Amino acid sequence: MRNLCIVVGTRPEAIKMAPVYFALQESSVLHPVLLSTGQHREMLDQAFASFSLVPDHDLHLMQPGQSLADITARVISRVHDYLTETRPAAVLVQGDTTTVLATAMAAFYAGIPVGHVEAGLRTYDPQNPWPEEMNRRLVAPITQWHFCPTQQSREHLLSERIEESKCYVTGNTVIDALLWIRNKLDRENRTSDEVAARVGISDAFNQRFLSDDASRWILVTGHRRESHGSGFVQMCDGILRIVAEHPDVGILFPVHLNPHVRQPVMEKLGNHDRIELVDPAGYEDFVWLMDRCLFLLSDSGGVQEESPSLGKPVLVTRDTTERPEGVAAGTCRLVGTDPQKIFAEADLLLSDSNELARRRRLKNPYGDGSAAQQIRTVLERSLCDR
Ligand code: UD1
Ligand code: UDP
Repeated sequence: MRNLCIVVGTRPEAIKMAPVYFALQESSVLHPVLLSTGQHREMLDQAFASFSLVPDHDLHLMQPGQSLADITARVISRVHDYLTETRPAAVLVQGDTTTVLATAMAAFYAGIPVGHVEAGLRTYDPQNPWPEEMNRRLVAPITQWHFCPTQQSREHLLSERIEESKCYVTGNTVIDALLWIRNKLDRENRTSDEVAARVGISDAFNQRFLSDDASRWILVTGHRRESHGSGFVQMCDGILRIVAEHPDVGILFPVHLNPHVRQPVMEKLGNHDRIELVDPAGYEDFVWLMDRCLFLLSDSGGVQEESPSLGKPVLVTRDTTERPEGVAAGTCRLVGTDPQKIFAEADLLLSDSNELARRRRLKNPYGDGSAAQQIRTVLERSLCDR
């Protein structure tokens, strides 16, 4: 058995790597070792818990209000120590966070090959998303196996002169994760009372919106660094206009734990009877909520990929996206952080039921749920000559 070190640091990495970890557990030649950098804390632990995952080792690196330089330096140094001590056959990283770039650099310094899950996403604008676009670009030349979610992401890598033989189109592992959780939810039959109690949703909001199938409510998330400051203030103004002009509509907003997000959101939206602000939800409950909302307003990468599988349109509060497939398919629409634009696009979905129905029927371009198995097969062949 050869050890393969899966390194994760934040909520989306844990969700998207869980299927890869499970697929590798079934291998007779590779053994997954799960290393947490702890770049996130509560939100990472919540995501691990949804899949009953326990890291083999946790570096506990998060500090409140950490700067990019700080967390980058700490991840490089501590992951490097871990890798030189344990010498896995390869390291796997996922996505575009600081954990990803810093781990890839640590592995490079330790002479250990890197596999990159969700490779080749690009906006070609270094400021959007910031710093994630640059993280992805810098990881590419270090990477030995590029696991691309779509043909388009593979094309990006080929245009950057990455060898074709290193690129594999597998779909996105988030679809594997989503299907896994949906099957679990189908078996469990959770009620709105249970979800509300766990997520901390008030009785009043639960009774009026969640437990009433005829009610209309929008699920909101947001955290992007390029929107910190005025972007979040404007986004909140857009939300306030939606509830002002649609007196039957509710907003449920699980607020990211980054203080740069919480401060403006709490201040602007904390005092409205149809706007419910809660802490981040566990992944299973969040999927349950996505399944029942009318549509989403979000800047999240994962949400853009998941929503087509649930038939939920997403208004994306960003100016660009490295996930153009969802926009091309019609499920996602870029609305930026301009309050007028946010209101206009939400108003269209709230006022035109045909348009809402049309955007609910679209097919998911991000894969069929077999990405993790495909990744395992590639790694077994490469590392164990099978
Ligand atoms: C990070 C990633 C971003 C990813 C997002 C997913 C980078 C540069 N950013 O952004 O790409 O989309 O995670 O959510 O890697 N905090 C807590 N508890 C938590 C998590 C965060 O208190 O569980 C607070 C801390 O004060 C922390 C701050 O949020 O210092 C920022 O966390 P950080 O991981 O640096 O950035 P995110 O904005 O979460
Ligand atoms: N998510 C969650 N709970 C929440 C909000 C989001 O479990 O309260 C999930 C969501 O379904 C998606 C992932 O977290 O799979 C996205 O994480 P985030 O938006 O933090 O990061 P991004 O995808 O933008 O990198």
